[in-house]
Amino acid sequence: MSTSRRSFLGKLWTSLGIVALLQLMAGAAAFLRSGSREEFVPKKQPVHAGPINDFPPGSVTLIPAAHCYLSRLDNGGFLAISRKCTHLGCAVPWNAERRQFECPCHRSVFDRSGNVLKSPAPRALDLFPVRFEQQTVVIDVNQTIRRAAFEQAQLAFPEQYRS
Ligand code: FES
Repeated sequence: MSTSRRSFLGKLWTSLGIVALLQLMAGAAAFLRSGSREEFVPKKQPVHAGPINDFPPGSVTLIPAAHCYLSRLDNGGFLAISRKCTHLGCAVPWNAERRQFECPCHRSVFDRSGNVLKSPAPRALDLFPVRFEQQTVVIDVNQTIRRAAFEQAQLAFPEQYRS
């Protein structure tokens, strides 16, 4: 085997080794990312969260099937608040003691209407549309409502609370 051919094969194997190493590192990075964040793939079917009366005013309830929290404000209005942080997308847990959403990734804080209390989150948590069918709360997970901040018009009211 000539020296130039041996040299060529050596470079080829080195290049292939580098490509394989990069693929391995990319796979490991993807695996680590998937372990630290939740998947936010909305279901196609609307989610029936439960009877209206199961959610008293002032309550915040995790609805796992919809990847959101159902927050019922004191005036009886409902918000289906996405768990996905508006900063970089981490899942945001509800802190029942402090009555606020607290992102574990970079410490953004949101109130129970999803409004930003502490950055770096740039805007309020997204919403899903809420409607009522035969006294049951139904969440449409096919549609995400992006918003800058909470407004009263975002609330969904059951029939008996409408004025
Ligand atoms: S992802 Fe929530 S604060 Fe950064």
